[in-house]
Amino acid sequence: MNAVFPGSFDPITSGHMDVLTRAARIFDHVTVTVMHNARKQGRHLFTLDERLEILREATAHFPNVSVDSFGGLLVDYMARQETGSVIVRGLRAVSDYEYELQIAHLNRQIGDAETVFIMAATRWSFVSSSMVREIASYGGNVSEMVPRASASALRRKHADVYEEREAELQGQTTSL
Ligand code: PNS
Repeated sequence: MNAVFPGSFDPITSGHMDVLTRAARIFDHVTVTVMHNARKQGRHLFTLDERLEILREATAHFPNVSVDSFGGLLVDYMARQETGSVIVRGLRAVSDYEYELQIAHLNRQIGDAETVFIMAATRWSFVSSSMVREIASYGGNVSEMVPRASASALRRKHADVYEEREAELQGQTTSL
């Protein structure tokens, strides 16, 4: 059985990687698909191409994972998949559940698409792409919260901020 793991992935986090690792153990093949989230329109840090590039690098070690993108409805994308394919979504905490439940029901209502939830490990319960983006925008350390490909891309995106902060921290240690 195959699965599709859809999301904004702006950028992919360690929580996403944890869910993907579990999904790749359960399903024959998992496609990680970058899609539009109408709630996040115009608020992306990384372009679609950048997000795909990060995803390819972060998932290269999985033999049964591929990366894709789609600009339409998730149910239309699912209709193009092998029969029986399911949607995989990760749950971090109870707070995710209400929103995810609504989408899962809608996707079944409008396209007969089935959703399977995978619980991320509790150590990632506080990690989200938006928090990671915020920390990185101030030059903070996000290396534990994202795969290396995301960390490098964030560092490139905010190179000046990281350099400035590191210089400041260096100055503080020297003056101690
Ligand atoms: O990582 P996200 O932003 O929580 O992922 C949400 C996503 C992209 C999977 C969801 O917004 C989605 O399915 N978008 C495609 C358009 C669609 O089918 N919308 C109807 C369901 S909300």
